[in-house]
Amino acid sequence: VTLYVPRDSAALAVGADRVAKAIAAEAERRGLAVNIVRNGSRGLFWLEPLVEVATPQGRVAYGPVEPGDVPALFDAGFLQGGAHALAHGLTDAVPYLQKQERLTFARMGLTDPLSLADYEAHEGYAGLRNAIAMAPAEVVQAVLDSGLRGRGGAAFPAGIKWKTVAATPGAVKHIVCNADEGDSGTFSDRMTMEGDPFVLIEGMTIAGLAVGATQGWIYVRSEYPHAIAVLEAAIAIARQAGYLGSNVMGSGRAFELVVRKAAGAYVCGEETALLESLEGKRGIVRAKPPLPAIQGLFGQPTVINNVITLATVPIILARGAAFYKDYGMGRSRGTLPFQLAGNIKHGGLVEKAFGLTLRELLYDFGGGSASGRPIKAVQVGGPLGAYVPESQWDLPLDYEAYAAVGAVVGHGGIVVHDDTADMSALARYAMEFCAIESCGKCTPCRIGSTRGVEVIDRITLHRDHPGQREQQATLLRDLCDTMLYGSLCAMGGMTPYPVLSALNHYPEDFGLAGPQREAA
Ligand code: NAI
Ligand code: SF4
Repeated sequence: VTLYVPRDSAALAVGADRVAKAIAAEAERRGLAVNIVRNGSRGLFWLEPLVEVATPQGRVAYGPVEPGDVPALFDAGFLQGGAHALAHGLTDAVPYLQKQERLTFARMGLTDPLSLADYEAHEGYAGLRNAIAMAPAEVVQAVLDSGLRGRGGAAFPAGIKWKTVAATPGAVKHIVCNADEGDSGTFSDRMTMEGDPFVLIEGMTIAGLAVGATQGWIYVRSEYPHAIAVLEAAIAIARQAGYLGSNVMGSGRAFELVVRKAAGAYVCGEETALLESLEGKRGIVRAKPPLPAIQGLFGQPTVINNVITLATVPIILARGAAFYKDYGMGRSRGTLPFQLAGNIKHGGLVEKAFGLTLRELLYDFGGGSASGRPIKAVQVGGPLGAYVPESQWDLPLDYEAYAAVGAVVGHGGIVVHDDTADMSALARYAMEFCAIESCGKCTPCRIGSTRGVEVIDRITLHRDHPGQREQQATLLRDLCDTMLYGSLCAMGGMTPYPVLSALNHYPEDFGLAGPQREAA
């Protein structure tokens, strides 16, 4: 009997290793032969550790399983998919999964992350095979035609970036994968690296062949030791099989790949600070231009893309640009792996085409707040994203629709707060976070964030002096304006998003009068 127990960090954090050991020990005690595959997570985090049993009808899910549950599960005949209080029926029929459109995450949790045979049996390397048979310019065109935009948050068209690098001469061009996933409440990059590493390796190899780059780098968050270990093992396997190296799949073209542990600073996720860090220097933001596409790593033309952008390339090359472009709405084509976190009952990964609403994510998938209290505010797009109030929960999740209301879709991270949240405290936290993480290169961010904390404190401390509160609120708006337009990078430039959205949509939490809300 084959069983699946995830090796994903989210599952390990709640005891997946102990559960796997308990199953192996119990099977041995009963003289039963079991094959335990350590798969990636299906992304149903509230059910982790989620144990799946392969049956003739399909995989049956049990979770959350604790080591102490294991003997009773055997007694209930779970090796045959038997009924038990922890059983959820066929995994694929769980509504949370069934309602998704998994393209980038098509294999997630299905395969053994380090089995190349498993990867190939699930459409793996079909994209690279097609890419090798195409001219490099055709590969770039396919990415352009697919409508794929950068999934790190900025949503810049990936094909245009690739085209720039392809057209720029350079001695050694580079593909850099930004895996410094620093946004609060995000984990799609991590899940990909831990649960389906070959898809990232394949995507980077396709990028290399398309733009004429021979060297790839994956800059992985230092807090992701499991991702680093899985990637290193997967790269060695891919190299051994001829998918990497001096003659990729007999094409006569070279592509090499290395993993680098990041420096542990939020700002190192900003592309130019990342390049500095990769070059062995302190992670300080570089002024643009020159764009990394023209002068990037070691001054050479460089593609820098997020994990999810690169991991989406294989399916585009395997199925065609039109297939991918068919999903989504407006200029937001394809799907986004949304990540539900914070105060939410069913946290986890939801990959859906652009165009669904936050309300659908919060209630149809998330099941409402974990505390059972009303949801008050939702931060979309990481710590630099706006707080989205209920009046905007029916907007389609689309880059342009969100931008129109001063919000961002970003990397798809969604952090939920219930009605006990104090939005002035969260606004203060945003300024404080910026003060801590600022690289210090420009004044609006370095000084502005510290002044921001002080001004918010003055607003909240002057709760009994309305005049002073209004005056300080005006000062806060002025300061946000300066940071928004005067900062060199998104760190200082986007910190006003959470601050102003909190002030505009929840003025009462700052002790400001109701009418301010309409004025805002
Ligand atoms: P940006 O808009 O300056 O650039 C986007 C990308 O397009 C960059 O790679 C840039 O080099 C490239 N680009 C722009 N014009 C180009 C051209 N003409 N040709 C070729 N390439 C071109 O945005 P930035 O500063 O890179 O990213 C900001 C975003 O990062 C924010 O929207 C935020 O949501 C996101 N973010 C994501 C985090 C995460 O953990 N995933 C953490 C923090 C911020
Ligand atoms: Fe550095 Fe902040 Fe300026 Fe970005 S905005 S360059 S993090 S000081």
